[in-house]
Amino acid sequence: MRKESDRVIAVKGVSKRVVDASGELAILDDIGMHVDAGETVAIVGESGSGKSTLLGLLAGLDTASSGTIHLLGQELGALDEDARAALRARGVGFVFQAFQLMPHLTALENVMLPLELRGDVSRRQAREQAHALLERVGLGSRVSHYPRVLSGGEQQRVALARAFVTQPAVLFADEPTGSLDAATGEAVSALMFEMNRSHGATLVLVTHDLSLARRCDRVITMRAGRLAEAA
Ligand SMILES: Nc1ncnc2c1ncn2[C@@H]1O[C@H](COP(=O)(O)OP(=O)(O)OP(=O)(O)O)[C@@H](O)[C@H]1O
Ligand SMILES: [Mg+2]
Repeated sequence: MRKESDRVIAVKGVSKRVVDASGELAILDDIGMHVDAGETVAIVGESGSGKSTLLGLLAGLDTASSGTIHLLGQELGALDEDARAALRARGVGFVFQAFQLMPHLTALENVMLPLELRGDVSRRQAREQAHALLERVGLGSRVSHYPRVLSGGEQQRVALARAFVTQPAVLFADEPTGSLDAATGEAVSALMFEMNRSHGATLVLVTHDLSLARRCDRVITMRAGRLAEAA
């Protein structure tokens, strides 16, 4: 049997509870799942079922109320915030549902940022790699634009380029094709699956796009904070 530390992601008994005005609310309840290296997994489910919350926990952006999550061999609950950030910088790309680009940086500077934070390539190399990825997502002519003058779909593609620029072992993407027309959505999907094939990147995607979900090795369905895994 495989050990949890061999998985890219291993989740056991994870719950997320928050306290608000109406009392304690369970957003996620007893989640158990795992993802192996190179797998492509889609998480689907109704709005409010907990998909984004789960993705944030898997990526170490947020902490579980109970249970354990191993990411790239490390137990996230045993790491402090700095150690989680270092693990993310080393091995994780994340595309947020709301993109979360830096408003005061151009498209190119946004994509260069993770490389600069990691600090292992020169500024010129960072610029070249970021430029090449923006070309790949069809934004070669938009590199010096600021997020506020980019359309939603263009911002989404900048966010994808930013997530991939460090060639992460795992890409988490929250509705990566949500704001895109069919043709651009297809180009973005093709890029994700190519990263999966060429670099063995593990993909964990939240999506309402059933054609994208069907292209993944596995589809996990969420219902009201719980998992119902389909074949
Ligand atoms: N910090 C919080 N405080 C209170 N409720 C929260 C908090 N974060 C999330 N929720 C609630 O938890 C539920 C799950 O939210 P989540 O964003 O994970 O859903 P989702 O499946 O990603 O939905 P969508 O498809 O609309 O993006 C929602 O009902 C949301 O309102
Ligand atoms: Mg969501």
